[in-house]
Amino acid sequence: MKKIIFLAAILSTILNAFSQNVISIIPEPVKLTRSEGKFVLPSNISISADPDPGLKQAIAGLTARLTIPTGCHVALNNSHTPTISLRLNKNAVADLGSEGYQLHVTLKNVIISANTPAGVFYGVQSFLQLLPAEITSDSIIKNIAWVAPCVSVTDYPRFSWRGLMLDVSRHFFTKEEVKKYIDQMATYKYNVLHLHLSDDQGWRIEIKSLPQLTQVGAWRVKRTGLWSEFLPALAFEKPTDGGFYTQDDMRDMINYAKDRNISILPEIDVPAHSLALIASFPNLSCTQLPYSVNAGFRSPTRDDNALCIGNDSSFVVLDKIFSELAALFPSEYIHVGGDEAYKGFWADCPKCQKRMTDEKLKNVDELQSYFIKRMETMLKSKGKKLIGWDEILEGGLAPEATVMSWRGMKGGVEAARMNHHVVMTPWDYCYLDLYQGEPGVEPPTYGMCRLMDSYNYDPVPDSVDEKLILGGQGNLWTERVSNFRHLEYMMWPRGLALAEVYWSPKTSRNWKNFIEKMEDHFGRLDAAGIKYARSAYNVIYTPVKTNDSRSYKLKLSTEINGLDIFYTFDGTNPDPYYPKYNGEPISFPVGATQITANTFRNGKMVGKQVTIKKDDLPARYNQGHHQY
Ligand code: ACM
Ligand code: ZN
Repeated sequence: MKKIIFLAAILSTILNAFSQNVISIIPEPVKLTRSEGKFVLPSNISISADPDPGLKQAIAGLTARLTIPTGCHVALNNSHTPTISLRLNKNAVADLGSEGYQLHVTLKNVIISANTPAGVFYGVQSFLQLLPAEITSDSIIKNIAWVAPCVSVTDYPRFSWRGLMLDVSRHFFTKEEVKKYIDQMATYKYNVLHLHLSDDQGWRIEIKSLPQLTQVGAWRVKRTGLWSEFLPALAFEKPTDGGFYTQDDMRDMINYAKDRNISILPEIDVPAHSLALIASFPNLSCTQLPYSVNAGFRSPTRDDNALCIGNDSSFVVLDKIFSELAALFPSEYIHVGGDEAYKGFWADCPKCQKRMTDEKLKNVDELQSYFIKRMETMLKSKGKKLIGWDEILEGGLAPEATVMSWRGMKGGVEAARMNHHVVMTPWDYCYLDLYQGEPGVEPPTYGMCRLMDSYNYDPVPDSVDEKLILGGQGNLWTERVSNFRHLEYMMWPRGLALAEVYWSPKTSRNWKNFIEKMEDHFGRLDAAGIKYARSAYNVIYTPVKTNDSRSYKLKLSTEINGLDIFYTFDGTNPDPYYPKYNGEPISFPVGATQITANTFRNGKMVGKQVTIKKDDLPARYNQGHHQY
C-alpha cells in the first residue's frame, strides 16, 4: 500500500510538473520569473482598480473572460484583499515606459501595475494567457481547473509601432468585423491598425463634402471566384457590391480601438491606385476617360488609375478629403500610399508637362515627388505627419516623410540613412496575403511567406540606427480574401510571429519555444472560434541539384521540428507504415511522376497530404524561396 501511495505521489508530481511545462505568453515578455505553485481562481473574484477612466476596457475585458467561460462571479469592489489589483504607478517606473507593465501572480492574488492604462491593459492580456486555453471561450466550460502558474513579469515593447494593415478596399469588411479584428490584434499587443481605405476596387470612407466618392466609388459589380480573372462590368449591370464606413461608424471604430490601445491609421492611396476616386471624378485623371470601379478583373489595356498632377482640381479634391480625415482621425500620421504609380500617362499629358516645366521638374519621378511634397505640406497644415510606401523615395523624399518599406528593407535603409523614420513591412516576411505553405493545399494566392520567415525576420538591418525604425507591420491585402474566416486564416499564426518580432527583445526570440507556445495558442484560438492556418505542419519540398545536372533530388522538411515525414511515389496516401523520410535528399524512382508525403507526430497525422509532380522540379528549383 505504501508503495502505491509513494508511486501515486511521484506520478502526481510528474503530472503537475508536466502541466506546468510551458508558459505560453505571446509575445514573449522581457523578463519572467516563475515561482512555486499556482494561483487558483476563486469562484468569487474581487477586482480593485485605480479610479481612472482609461482602465475601463482592461476591467471590462478581464471581467468578461473571468466570468463567461468559468461561471465565476466578479465584483469590482476595491476590497482590502482583492483577488486582482490593477494599479497605475504613482511614480513612473522608468523601464516600463508608456506601454510596459508588471504582473505578479502569487498563490493568493494577482497584481498588475503600469505607468499607463495601456500597460495595465497589456498586463491583463498576459495574465489571461497564463490561464487555461478555454479562458477565451464564449460559453461556459465545465471540469477545468482555472489556475495560473505563479510568476513575476516585467515587460515592455521593443518597438512603439506594432501594426497590422487591413485592406478594406479590395474586399469590404463591416464595422463589426473590423472590431473583431481589433479584438484579435489587442490580445497580442498590436497597437496600430492601418486601414487601406481606397484603391482601384473601392472607396471606403464617407467624405461629407464629396458624396460622389461613396455614391459611386464604394460600389462595383458583384463577382465571385478567382480574383483578377473576373469578367469586367457589363453595360446593364448595376454596381451593388461594396460598402463604406460613415464618419460615425469610423468614430465608433476609432474609439473601440483606442480603448484597446490601438490607433487607426487611415490610408488614402494616391496618386495611383485611385480608380475608385477617378470613377467618382472622371476629370481627375490625365485621360479623363470614364471608368467604373474595378471588380477584380484584369483590364486588357492599362487603366489610367493615377491622378493628374497637372490639374489643380486634383489638389482641391484632395484638400477636401484630407481636411475631413484630419478632423476625424486622432492618428498622428496619415498614410498617402504613393505606391506603384504608372507614370506613362503623366508623360503624355499636357497639364502634367506644364506642371513639370513650371516647377522645373526633370522627369516624372520628380513629378511624383512634387506631388508627395505637396501632400506633406497639405497634411502639415492640418496637423498631421505624412507616411507613404517606399516609392515616395523616387524623385526625392519629402522633408519630414516617414517611409513604410514594403519592397524589401532597402527603401527603409535608404530613408533611415537620410535620418527619416521608417516602418518596416518587407513583403517577403510581412505580407499576410501570401502563401504560408505548399500552394497545392492552400487557397490560391501568390508568393510565399512561411511562418518561419515572419518569425526569423528582424526589422532593424545592420548598419541602421534602431531609433529610426519605429517598428513594423504585417499587411493583409485582400484581393483573394473575400470573407472574415479566410482573413483569420491568413492572419494567424503569422500574426503571432510578427507580434513577437515587434514586441519582444531580439535575444529572447526562440523558434522552438515559439512553436510550443503557438500550439497552446491554437487551443486558445479554437476555444474562441477563431480560424488559423496549420500550414507550418505541412511538408516543404526543396529540389536539390545532383551531379548529373539533368535530374533533381528532393529534400523534404518541415518548419516544425520533430515531425516524421512518410512518403510514397505510387499515388496512394502515406501513413506511418510507409517509407519514412530519413533526412537525405531522395531520387524519383524510374517511371515515377509524382511524390506524395505527409507529416505525423507520435503516429498521428498533423499535416495535410501534399502531392507534387516531378516535371515541376526545375521550375521550383529556379524560383526563389519566396516566389510562387
Ligand atoms: C504595396 O504592396 N503595393 C504597397
Ligand atoms: Zn496629367
